[in-house]
Amino acid sequence: MIRCKMAIARLVACFILYSSLGHIPSSLGVILRTMDKIVWANEFEPIELTCLIESISTNNPRIEWKKIKHGVPSYVYFQNRIAGDLEHRAQLREPANILIYNTTRSDTAEYRCEVAAIDDQRDFDEILISLAVRVKPVVPRCSVPEAVTVGTSTELRCLENEGFPAPQYRWFHNSEELPQDPKNNPKFVNSSYSINADTGGLKFRRVRKEDAGEYYCLAKNDAGHAHCSPQNMEVYDVDVLGITLKSFGAGVIIFCLTAWTYHCFRHGCFHKKSHNEPDYNWPAQTNAVDYGDADEGHFRHKSSFII
Ligand SMILES: *[C@@H]1O[C@H](CO)[C@@H](O)[C@H](O)[C@H]1NC(C)=O
Ligand SMILES: *[C@@H]1O[C@H](CO)[C@@H](O)[C@H](O)[C@H]1NC(C)=O
Repeated sequence: MIRCKMAIARLVACFILYSSLGHIPSSLGVILRTMDKIVWANEFEPIELTCLIESISTNNPRIEWKKIKHGVPSYVYFQNRIAGDLEHRAQLREPANILIYNTTRSDTAEYRCEVAAIDDQRDFDEILISLAVRVKPVVPRCSVPEAVTVGTSTELRCLENEGFPAPQYRWFHNSEELPQDPKNNPKFVNSSYSINADTGGLKFRRVRKEDAGEYYCLAKNDAGHAHCSPQNMEVYDVDVLGITLKSFGAGVIIFCLTAWTYHCFRHGCFHKKSHNEPDYNWPAQTNAVDYGDADEGHFRHKSSFII
């Protein structure tokens, strides 16, 4: 029994020794390393993607860089030249780094450094780096209702589509920033608003007289920020606006109906249509003349189908 256990232990020890030997990096193989596997850059600034060669014995290894965007690879360094998307915009730096002089948002992708060393035992290694280019927000589109009634609900909206990563939104009322949560601020404790920093919505459950004023919104991410110009929101005590609009609308409808009835009474409404009917044939007949005389009868026959 004891002998059996010892045999198993010896076997396990042997196995462990064997597998660890297999994992010791051979000094005869090419091994790559990078400073950052996930790289953030600001748009229009330079960035260097590092591809460091830890060990190699081949003198002139073959170095290639590929850009992988939406799963589609393309060469950006091939046959000792910068190529494709990065042509004239980057250079290779010792040992195998790639320096992009002026990044753009379209550089956001994965990049793969591949080194082939034919004289090495382990003759190939690659390393994948993902590059994300931050983009400053542009001026957001803000929508602020011009007039609302006290006690009703309303929503102000803000949207910015260029910024990357997607910006966070803040709202300002008469040049003062609205705290994210009014309940935590004695000055705004009676206000019913809520801000969604991700979507840009500023919602009022019940508008108060004090909520009137100028509003603007700011879109901000790590690359920068931008805001729209202030827009005024008026708050009415009663639904003056609604009443005005409704009575104005009703007036317009009554006027139109009266005018139409009067018109029908004087000229008739259905007589005119039958008067127009022969006109439908005119364009076809004009065309028939253009087509010459040979097929006139035939064409007329056809045109009756068209009509
Ligand atoms: C980077 O590129 C942008 C547009 O492509 C250009 O406006 C800007 O001047 C460039 N910046 C540098 C430092 O070359
Ligand atoms: C909020 O409402 C309470 C009760 O109506 C009032 O006493 C208080 O002054 C109000 N606070 C502000 C900042 O308007």
